[in-house]
Amino acid sequence: MLLGMFAIERIIQVGFRHRVLFTEGVFDRSNPVLRDVLWDPSAPDRARTLLVVDQHLAAAQPGLQQAILDYFRAHQDSLELAGPPLVMPGGEAAKASLDHVYTVHARIDGGHIDRHAYVIGVGGGALLDMVGFAAATAHRGCRHVRLPTTTLSQADSGVGVKNGINAFGKKNFVGAFAPPFAVINDFNLLESLPPREKRAGYVEAVKVALIRDRAFFETIEREAELLARFEPGAMRRLIHRCAELHVDHIATGGDPFECGSARPLDFGHWAAHKLEQLTDYRLGHGEAVGIGIALDTLYSKRRGLLPGAAADRVLTLLERLGFRLRDDALLANDDRGELAVLAGLEEFREHLGGELTVTLLRDIGGSTEVHAMDRGLIREAIGELMSRPGGA
Ligand SMILES: NC(=O)c1ccc[n+]([C@@H]2O[C@H](COP(=O)([O-])OP(=O)(O)OC[C@H]3O[C@@H](n4cnc5c(N)ncnc54)[C@H](O)[C@@H]3O)[C@@H](O)[C@H]2O)c1
Ligand SMILES: [Zn+2]
Repeated sequence: MLLGMFAIERIIQVGFRHRVLFTEGVFDRSNPVLRDVLWDPSAPDRARTLLVVDQHLAAAQPGLQQAILDYFRAHQDSLELAGPPLVMPGGEAAKASLDHVYTVHARIDGGHIDRHAYVIGVGGGALLDMVGFAAATAHRGCRHVRLPTTTLSQADSGVGVKNGINAFGKKNFVGAFAPPFAVINDFNLLESLPPREKRAGYVEAVKVALIRDRAFFETIEREAELLARFEPGAMRRLIHRCAELHVDHIATGGDPFECGSARPLDFGHWAAHKLEQLTDYRLGHGEAVGIGIALDTLYSKRRGLLPGAAADRVLTLLERLGFRLRDDALLANDDRGELAVLAGLEEFREHLGGELTVTLLRDIGGSTEVHAMDRGLIREAIGELMSRPGGA
């Protein structure tokens, strides 16, 4: 407080319940999970709901929209649809323009979704980020339920508290922290994913295992062959543990809305976000994170933090899971002849604010933070990565 000034100062504390429910066949009429999430028997009205569905999901699962309509009809005593499901672009296109957000806003307005009603996003992490942002900003925040439909979003992005779209050439530049009312992970919704998208989520599990949970890393190593051929039991185990570690981090890590300058769960992400943008999203988030993890693992080795054998284990596991760790985008130069990916460091810092804080590895299951990255060592790590023979 400035000397001589009078101030009123209070601490405002707000608690959030954050729940991720696991089920199968979420829109089977006999499955009560969604009804029970939405409906409060003590409320005077039925639970009014707007659904926004990922276009690629809708195309890949032609029966889905009818199943949604049937579900709400079967539960019409407790649930009420605010119009037919709104089908919107999926993938990074969902986050490319504010127009999509306004489209959802318009349906929230026209469908009379108030702050006790629900907006449900059904789709990949990109669509969920966009829908979550629309829900967080209409009426200053409507209830928002996420039904993630990719491995990555069930294991990672869909179970978090961040929403947003891309702008000014930067990932997630416009967005909001808003914990969802609930997340429902339905493993059956993943059935229609192409192999590339099924695999993409594995990388976030490797990431969180590397910084938090050595035993989980060893499980992924043991089950790598099963995961590479998308064996359902192994996939379920990976998604469950990965989601749990993410939720634990949000709930107990002490900084759910990222007010500090560190973001440990973004290990490997400074390069990944830049690579996504440099390749015009030819590299998906998971694929770019695979490369980003490999790069920061080799950097950790070259900084003398991580033993070489451990670094080999990390890269070998990523390759066994089917990730390609080399990409020419790593060698792209900017106007000044500098490696373009290096700009990702400053963009990463600016996005979080404050001092640059990058997570590195000192062991499998153990991380450390640094506040400066040596560009020469990054170049060496890129050189080592590009000379690797392996990769899918
Ligand atoms: N909010 C966060 O905390 C957070 C964290 C990490 C990543 N993200 C974001 O998540 C996004 C990536 O999400 P993603 O990996 O889920 O990819 P995605 O949303 O881009 O989906 C991948 C593709 O699969 C399609 N699709 C989705 N479900 C399908 C299904 N069941 N069957 C067939 N096709 C389907 C989508 O339309 C898209 O074309 C990125 O924008 C990333 O920045 C957000
Ligand atoms: Zn990620």
